Amino acid sequence: MRYSRRMDGLPPYLFAEIERKIAEKRKQGVDVISLGIGDPDTPTPAHIVEEMQRQVADPANHQYPTNRGTDEFRKAVADFYRQRFGVELDPETEVFPLLGAKEAIAHICFNFLDEGDLCLSADPGYPVYTSGPILAGGEPYPLPLLPEQGFKPDLDGIPEDVLERSRMLFCNYPNNPTGAVLEQGDDFFERLAAFGREHDIAIIHDNAYSEITFDGYVAPSYLETPGAREAGIELFSLSKTYNMTGWRIGAVVGNADIIAKYWTLKSNMDSGMFSALQRTAAFALSGSQECVREMCEIYSRRRDLVVDTLRDIGIEVTPPKATIYIWIRVPEGYTSNSFADMVLDKCGVVVPPGSGYGPSGEGFVRISLTAPDERISEALERIRDNL
Ligand SMILES: Cc1ncc(COP(=O)(O)O)c(C=O)c1O
Repeated sequence: MRYSRRMDGLPPYLFAEIERKIAEKRKQGVDVISLGIGDPDTPTPAHIVEEMQRQVADPANHQYPTNRGTDEFRKAVADFYRQRFGVELDPETEVFPLLGAKEAIAHICFNFLDEGDLCLSADPGYPVYTSGPILAGGEPYPLPLLPEQGFKPDLDGIPEDVLERSRMLFCNYPNNPTGAVLEQGDDFFERLAAFGREHDIAIIHDNAYSEITFDGYVAPSYLETPGAREAGIELFSLSKTYNMTGWRIGAVVGNADIIAKYWTLKSNMDSGMFSALQRTAAFALSGSQECVREMCEIYSRRRDLVVDTLRDIGIEVTPPKATIYIWIRVPEGYTSNSFADMVLDKCGVVVPPGSGYGPSGEGFVRISLTAPDERISEALERIRDNL
């Protein structure tokens, strides 16, 4: 078979590799504990599941959906953004449904990149910030997120020739994988929007974790910033917000021109989202958000468990105020990979190496809080015994 050159440049997907390693270990009879992929272990709240059951039974939802999304879904997202972030969106032109944020991260690259064009991608970052640009025929250019800079990119340090070739930028706060957040008064989004406008670079802010926050922290939307919409869009996802990772639903919001182009792209690629799912998502967004608060309590308890145990072992960590991840510096003498390999081989515990998220992730591993408390405790005890 002859495959495209573009496939040669594509690295194997981080979690596909990890899944392969887990399967191998389990075949050997090892009781593997995965603190790898960030996939909520608790079910979608019952009221959302029950609404989906009602919607699936309705024949009105059984035909091709409109590619542009149902009116009620777009309106529910706009209402949610008004209530939650104080952001006004026109549901006709500034909201569009996604089959999860991941598809948008990959596909939006086709709207912006031609051969030789660059995408500025947070490093470490969600792996599709790198593979999306490659698939579209462009190139990712890593924007290092360093601890000493609060895991925010140095926008002023990007070389002029890189800026000239750059068409788009991916970043996300609250941040996967580092857990970094933008504190109140932080002007990063203002600088980001100004940067996008000045250099004609589309800002794609990936807002997958804004609802998973702790200790009273409230995460902002990129679109709250004046002038942000002129420079870009935000991707919102229901995956982590409502434990709906398997359902595949999110929305792109913001710049109407970018969204119109994305609609053109998508209508040539897929036939929209199951109407029953759009109606159920509208129901989830407009109903009680108590289930989200309950999830945050669970994650915050697990975060404390991990941070306290690691400190006890002698590994210093900053407790994140958001996301479902803890970003940990590996102990002296290890690399990201050697620590992740040791933890898998000796402890039967899966932690993704930080280097899997980009070169600046070297020296770190990520722990996901999406396993039951007792499994997290057991995993940490196994690590303690082997250090
Ligand atoms: C930063 C980030 N963006 C996007 C996604 C994908 O979200 P979705 O399930 O909506 O495709 C994830 C999933 O882990 C993520 O961590």
